[in-house]
Amino acid sequence: MDKARAKAFAGTMIGVMNGGALALMCSIGHRTGLFDSMAGMDPSTSQQIADAAELDERYVREWLAAMASGRIVDYDADAETFVLPVEHQTLVTRAGGPLNIASALQNMALLAQVEDDVVEAFHTGAGVPYSRFPKFGAIMAEESAARYDKALISEIIPNIPDAVEKLTAGATLADVGCGQGHALLLMAKEYPNSTFTGMDFSAEAVTHANERAKELGLDNAHFVERDAAQIGEIDAYDFITTFDAIHDQAYPHQVLEGIHAALKHDGHYLCVEPKAESNLADNMDDPVAPYVYTMSTMHCMSVSIAGGGEGLGTAWGTQLAMQYLADAGFTGITTHEVRSDRTNTHFVANKN
Ligand SMILES: C[S@@+](CC[C@H](N)C(=O)[O-])C[C@H]1O[C@@H](n2cnc3c(N)ncnc32)[C@H](O)[C@@H]1O
Repeated sequence: MDKARAKAFAGTMIGVMNGGALALMCSIGHRTGLFDSMAGMDPSTSQQIADAAELDERYVREWLAAMASGRIVDYDADAETFVLPVEHQTLVTRAGGPLNIASALQNMALLAQVEDDVVEAFHTGAGVPYSRFPKFGAIMAEESAARYDKALISEIIPNIPDAVEKLTAGATLADVGCGQGHALLLMAKEYPNSTFTGMDFSAEAVTHANERAKELGLDNAHFVERDAAQIGEIDAYDFITTFDAIHDQAYPHQVLEGIHAALKHDGHYLCVEPKAESNLADNMDDPVAPYVYTMSTMHCMSVSIAGGGEGLGTAWGTQLAMQYLADAGFTGITTHEVRSDRTNTHFVANKN
């Protein structure tokens, strides 16, 4: 028994407990707009902060106590005021765009809602279906929109060979597992001469996406309810994209083969997947690895298993992804790092 190690581990576990608690409170700070309100304020009392955010003072005061003791906001005990330091603002406010971690922390409450199902699944080996995550689509859409608003047109599309030129002139692009369709709509707006098709098996997401296309007056974008494992089209698209939509598939081989078949002979595929190595040993020093494996256990792996699938997991990683892409027939596979999308690897591949 190494007493120093035991003591250090007690500190680790207390850190886990406080981190979990603060994760929920940061999610609340994001959803209520408290962080955004505080970003524009000088040191203020709980009443002033509650008034600015149009919230109940008693709740705001208790939230501020957690934020202050968690060292997320600064507290002046004499003046009884709180301030969100400028150095912290990017990571917890909407102005931070893809760097806003408070937005991602909404996932903690989402996962907690299915904890009973996941515990049960540990005993049975069964999965937890998408239908058990009613808020997943909206949270995912919010997170990915921040990322793609910043980088899709300027940094990501130019990584695909011929894409800017062909999409400007008029081409066809499909986005598989498109969710609420934000990425596709950004492209449809940027490239009015091209035609865009979004596919997702969530009827709710597809309806939302079609309504949004209508609101934006984008008649070159439409969305269809379809299982990615049954795309069923041949030589139809110049480009196909998937954004975080392969690792949680029940049948990823089948999906990739369908994408390969649906591309035209000179077509290209952009496959965006969570950044990870395929072996746990190589992810040990990744600072977000515990978060990634948790998301996997409680969502990505379990929705795949629920569909009768293999449960690849969020951290299936670069090496396995390269292998799956090659197995599906893709050639010239390259990987790209995107500055505003540090948590993903962007694979670009040719049909032939
Ligand atoms: C992690 S989300 C990504 C959504 C979107 N691409 C984004 O970046 O915001 C995965 C999406 O794939 C969809 N999906 C999962 N399995 C699918 C399947 N077999 N067929 C069609 N869509 C599927 C889900 O409904 C979900 O919208």
